[in-house]
Amino acid sequence: MLRKPLVMGNWKMHGSRQSVKKLMDDIRLDDETCKRVEVVVLPSFVHLQMVNDVLHRFHHSLIGLGAQDVYLHTQGAYTGEVSGPMLADVGCQYVLVGHSERRHVLQESDVLVAQKYHAALQAGLHPVLCVGETRAEREANLTETIIEQQLSAVLAEAGAEAFQQSVIAYEPVWAIGTGLSASPEEAQAVHLFIRNWLKAHQRDGGDRIRIIYGGSLKPDNAAQLFDMPDIDGGLIGGAALDGMSFSTICELILRKLQYNLH
Ligand code: PGA
Repeated sequence: MLRKPLVMGNWKMHGSRQSVKKLMDDIRLDDETCKRVEVVVLPSFVHLQMVNDVLHRFHHSLIGLGAQDVYLHTQGAYTGEVSGPMLADVGCQYVLVGHSERRHVLQESDVLVAQKYHAALQAGLHPVLCVGETRAEREANLTETIIEQQLSAVLAEAGAEAFQQSVIAYEPVWAIGTGLSASPEEAQAVHLFIRNWLKAHQRDGGDRIRIIYGGSLKPDNAAQLFDMPDIDGGLIGGAALDGMSFSTICELILRKLQYNLH
């Protein structure tokens, strides 16, 4: 298979030092999963350093680290913001940009998201670009238009080659935290649209970029979603706050590899 499966746990604004330590303890991955699946956790800014230490001490760095957001400038008078170099300095390899909660609750525009994406790349991080439509946009048949706008903003800011270092996360806004996941077929259709868009705008490599699904993904529906050919992994919110559920989801994607070997 061309693309290594990727499962990311987005812990959002949850946890204390104590509960985060317990959560790390509860993540148990078997050897096969560690070898063949890339697993990454995304704690809040204030827990990054601690999680990085725990990952190195107890998980032998088999689990990667990422942040949930990044600012567009590297340093300066931007009270409250955190830059790409700061994230890299505490051990992050990945950073989310344009998560729907930032687009919709914090009012981040496509342009700002694209600038953050560029800043992440310049800091040597892999940006995880989150894209997705609202319920109203889906009902108005605008899913592809919205996603194309979100992707094109990044293309205009950072150039086509910039996608090679990135992951795209398709997260329909109506599925996030609602318990209402997209069906495997609905998700696959959008992933294929994104894949074709990448192929059309990249000189090569559109096939190598991972496109992961997020939105009420849990142990009950993970296998069916992961069976889809263009779903390369998951961005997990709620279910990532339970170590057992998260570990199960990570193991379920192994099925995909076995299936693809035949
Ligand atoms: P959810 O969140 O799994 O709780 O729907 C996913 C996300 O927001 O990344």
